[in-house]
This record gives sequence, structure tokens and C-alpha cells, in this order.
Amino acid sequence: MKVTTTDKSIEKVSAGALAIILFEGEKPEKEVLVLDKKIGGTITESIRSKEFTGKLYQSISLYSHGNISATRVLLVGAGKKAEFTSRIARNLAGVAGRKAQRIGAKTLAIYISKPEAVEEIIEGVFLGVYDLGLYKKKKNGSIISELILVGSVSNEILKHSIIVSEATNWARHLITEPPNKLTPTKMVEEAKKIAAKYKFEIEILDEKEADKRGMGAFVGVSKGSEEPSFMLSMKYKGGGKETLGIIGKGITYDSGGISLKSSKGLSDMKTDMAGAAVCMGVMKVLGELRSKVDVVMVCAVTENMPSGKALKPDDVVTAYNGKTIEITNTDAEGRLVLADAIGYAEKLGATKIVDIATLTGAVIVIFGNEATAIMGNSQSWVDKILKASEAAGERFWQLPMYSEYKKVLKSDIADVTNAYRSHPEAGTIAGAIFLQEFVSEKTQWAHLDIAGTSLSEGESPFLANGPTGVGVRTLVKLIESMDK
Ligand code: BES
Ligand code: ZN
Ligand code: ZN
Repeated sequence: MKVTTTDKSIEKVSAGALAIILFEGEKPEKEVLVLDKKIGGTITESIRSKEFTGKLYQSISLYSHGNISATRVLLVGAGKKAEFTSRIARNLAGVAGRKAQRIGAKTLAIYISKPEAVEEIIEGVFLGVYDLGLYKKKKNGSIISELILVGSVSNEILKHSIIVSEATNWARHLITEPPNKLTPTKMVEEAKKIAAKYKFEIEILDEKEADKRGMGAFVGVSKGSEEPSFMLSMKYKGGGKETLGIIGKGITYDSGGISLKSSKGLSDMKTDMAGAAVCMGVMKVLGELRSKVDVVMVCAVTENMPSGKALKPDDVVTAYNGKTIEITNTDAEGRLVLADAIGYAEKLGATKIVDIATLTGAVIVIFGNEATAIMGNSQSWVDKILKASEAAGERFWQLPMYSEYKKVLKSDIADVTNAYRSHPEAGTIAGAIFLQEFVSEKTQWAHLDIAGTSLSEGESPFLANGPTGVGVRTLVKLIESMDK
């Protein structure tokens, strides 16, 4: 999608659809009233007749009958002015994009009355119109080839927003890929392409090498699968005092292993690599924007499968940091591979760490699909990430890590168990409590559980059903907040 800007007056902008965003119960601004007059008062008429109320995410399309340069005018409801947020701005642009797509417009113009919302508008349209039907012969709607922003827009914001949106959609694409196509090998090939394009240092440890280096938890999970597995790392050197480690769970298919999931539990388990896809998307952004921060990415990429060689409940493995883990459930594989990835990121120099993972079904019980859970060992680090998530319009919510929760790790024969024996409660926190065992005290660390937010459930007015790419924008904002 091409993005252009224009300072023409709105009636002179030619497009298949011209979107105007209107608040509930507010009189349209002057420019809109001028436009309204030109098209025979249909905007004010639809408001008067209550066909269009401005209710949040409502959208209607009006033909302009050739009196202005755009073929149609789209009215998009922004809800109550007092409740408006930048998150809503992004979603409204998504609504406009999806509506334009549905009615067959090829070019979409959006009237920007608030220049400070440009980033959100561009991202919203890119994310909204993105088509996830990768293997459909026939696409779901029209393809919008051009987005025209009507108003004053800085080139820098334009470029930045396009890069971040495209990286997010790239990650969504990868997450959408089915597990027979996106194997760990394929995922590592994608990483190699990124490294080659941006001249990043890349290191790929196969199972044998990972085993040699003592990554017993990662290798334990890998063993059960016929597909080769990899501990993947990439380095971006932008300078700066500290090295940020971003760590992704890259399970290209989570069957549960010997603790096999139910048929229902298996659905969407191709998306268990979302954390890794997001980290790789962030590396793409770094390659384009060249922030002044050192970043090391580590992704543990493997399937979790049952087989004669697979990890079994009751097995004991030794992690990279030397701690022993009694396996109580092979479906708690994410924390196993992350334990080694975290240790390895520290070895590679990371002093501040964020891991991102579709770690627990329990987070969906807490938040549904509406918030990412964040936990960590340093409140100031968690606060910094919360701030970044707010700036990115992604909802994060902190859960506590009280020391009392440590009882969930109790094992009779090893240092820890990987899942509760007698404490099924607080599953999301238990995941973080486990991971903390594999972080050095000197490292500031935070864990993001995106099991609920990485997929949007059902069609929303602003996003297709499927992967959201959650995390790319927050991590980019975090990196930018460190680039100072
Ligand atoms: N990949 C799953 C978590 C998940 C569940 C992601 C639903 C997305 C949607 C993870 O590996 C898992 O199976 N976790 C277990 C942990 C339990 C065995 C302690 C879970 O949540 O049931
Ligand atoms: Zn699992
Ligand atoms: Zn999993």
C-alpha cells in the first residue's frame, strides 16, 4: 500500500472512499460542513435521521454523486469525545480501512483533523486492511493500493509508522503460516534473510550444539520432534551503555508432547511461535530505523511433539544455568525453552531482558483477549515497559510475583518442577515464577504473556480474525525510550 499526503481541501481529494471521523453528539467541524453542502447535505441528514450517530466504530458509506472528487464519503464513529484515546484513533483508521475494502474502494483518503494522531492512523489502516487469507485463491475484499492522508503530516512520522506497521504485518504473516509450512528450519531461514539484509550478526545452534553447550531444557523439548530445532540469536549493534535482550518463544507447533493436548486444546497451536515472530519483526524495524541501542535477540525455535524420543513427565533435565528441572507436564514446554534462551541471552551480554511468549492458557482466563500480562524482577523495568506499551496503544497489565507463589515450583528430586503438582491456581504467575529461577539477580527482567492478545477472536470492526502481532510496537517504543 502506497501512502501519500495532500494539503488539498477535502472536496478536491480524489479517492474511492474519503473517510471522515466524527464524534458522538458533536457537531461536525467547519471543513466537514463545507463538504456536506457539496454533497447535498447527506452527512448532516444521516446524523439528523440518526442513521449515523457517531457510536464507536460505526461506519456508513455515502455516494457523493460526482459533486466532489471522491466517489464516496465514509463516516466513521469515534464514540464520545471524552473517552477518546490514541488506541481508539488507531482502531478507527482500521474501521475506515476495512469498510473501504468491503465496498471495493482501491484508494482510501482519510481526513486528519488531529495531526498528532497520524502515527495511529497509518498503523490502524495497515493493520486493519491486512489480509490473512494467505492460501485463499480469491481474496476477501478489494486491495487498497493507496492511502491518502489529507492534512499536514511529517515525513519522518510517515516513514516510521510504515516501517513499524509493515514489520507487524510481517510478524502476523509468519504467525498465520501453517505448521507444516513454517517449520523451525523455515523460521530460521527467515531470520537469516533479515540478518543478511541488515548485516546483523547471526548464530544458529542446532540441537547437537545446544546439547553440547548444556541447554538441557531446550533440548528436552526438541528431542520429541522429527523436525530439526534451533536456538537462534541475532545481534544489532547501535551503541549505548546497555544491551537489551529480547527473547521469543518459537514453538512452531505445540501438541503438548506426551502430556498431549485435547483436540480442542490443539486449535491455533501453530501460533505458539508468536513471541519469536514478534522479536524477528522488531529486528526488522531496527534494521530500518537504526536506533542507538545494542540489542540481542534470542529465539528458541522447535516443535513440541510426542514420540518415543520425547520428554516424559517425571524426566529431569538440566538447564543452561545448571539448575535441574523435574518435568511434571510436557505441555509446559514454553518455560523450558525460555529458561535456556534467557540464560543464553545473558551469556551474549544482555543486561536488561524482556521475554515474550504465548505461555499460559490461564492468562486468557484472567484477561480474555484484552490484555498482555507483564511480570518481572524489577519494578522500574516493568514500569518502563508499561509506559512503552501505553505509547504503543497495546494493553499490558501487571500481575504480582509474591514470594509465596514459589511453592508451585517445589520438587522432591530436582531444584524445581516445570508445572504445578498440587497448585493449579495462578497459572500465569507460576509461569513467571518459574522463569525467574533462570534469570541472574543482576539482570533486570520482564516476562510478557501474550497467549490471550496474540490472536484476536472473531472478526472485529478494525482487525481481521487471527494474529495481531502484539508486542512489536511496544518493543519498538521501548527501544526508542532507551535510545536517549
Ligand atoms: N502454548 C501453551 C499456552 C497457550 C494456551 C497459548 C492457549 C495460547 C492459547 C503452553 O505451552 C501451555 O500449554 N501451557 C500450559 C501450562 C500448564 C501445563 C502448566 C497451559 O496453559 O495449560
Ligand atoms: Zn504447551
Ligand atoms: Zn506452548
